[in-house]
Amino acid sequence: MKVVKTVQEFRDQRKNLSNPLGFVPTMGFLHEGHLSLVRAAHRECRSVAVSIFVNPTQFGPNEDFEAYPRDMDADLEKLEGEQVDIVLTPDKDDLYPAGFQTWVEVESLTQPLEGIVRPGHFRGVTTVVAKFFNIVQPDRAYFGQKDAQQAAVLRRMAADLNFPLEVITCPTLREPDGLAMSSRNTYLNPEQRKAAAVLYRSLNEARLAFEKGEKNANSLRQLVKNIIAGEPLARLDYVSCADLVTLQELDKIERQALLSMAVFIGKTRLIDNVILG
Ligand code: PAJ
Repeated sequence: MKVVKTVQEFRDQRKNLSNPLGFVPTMGFLHEGHLSLVRAAHRECRSVAVSIFVNPTQFGPNEDFEAYPRDMDADLEKLEGEQVDIVLTPDKDDLYPAGFQTWVEVESLTQPLEGIVRPGHFRGVTTVVAKFFNIVQPDRAYFGQKDAQQAAVLRRMAADLNFPLEVITCPTLREPDGLAMSSRNTYLNPEQRKAAAVLYRSLNEARLAFEKGEKNANSLRQLVKNIIAGEPLARLDYVSCADLVTLQELDKIERQALLSMAVFIGKTRLIDNVILG
């Protein structure tokens, strides 16, 4: 496994990577969720590239950029175990040199949900991923359903800007109690960690109700709210039941829908979602 620190070194290596090349962009502190994307890339591609970069432009001024967990040695060991071909670990100044002023923005899809509470977040995500697409030149790029809006936004960006690659969304990997794996789970103390299972429990209850015939979006949102309210350590930020493609809120569920949420457990903000239908 090659580990390269600069954009130039990656460019020098690109011709040695066999096609199709699969690419998994990450911010590191890797867990099984990230590794499941690497495995999907391996199944479908002849070589696999991973980036590790905690992207400052997607964090708000009051968010956890400084505190975001980092462990490069452990990450590289895990990727070595997955037989990744090349890992790109650029630093901030390489990707955002002095004078940087060019941004990629996706419009409507970035407005609701995470866009309301995290202004500028998706602009940072789309800009850095567009840069990585230009640097890595993959044939397929892999993202997790855990960040459903991010995946939808990046799929849109790739289509709108004619990136010659396929955006692939992979299922959310979960802990045995249902909690979606996330680098941010490490912020939770043992009591909070237990309480965090309420996210998936509430989504699952709503999904069961949907499968039994409840098609009223507000009833499902209310069901989720009630379950979250029953967990003293949890505070609901939002619950949404939206069209899976447009992310517009629904009254009645007639097509595939995305039931998604953000919940504070103490100071830690966790997101999760399930697809209905
Ligand atoms: P990060 O949070 O490190 O996630 C990297 C990828 O792993 C994303 O596509 C995310 O959806 C996926 N992922 C995270 N948890 C997962 C889980 N439990 N199951 C399956 N996939 C999971 O998302 C980012 O980084 C950044 O925004 C990035 C796209 C790298 C741009 O900076």
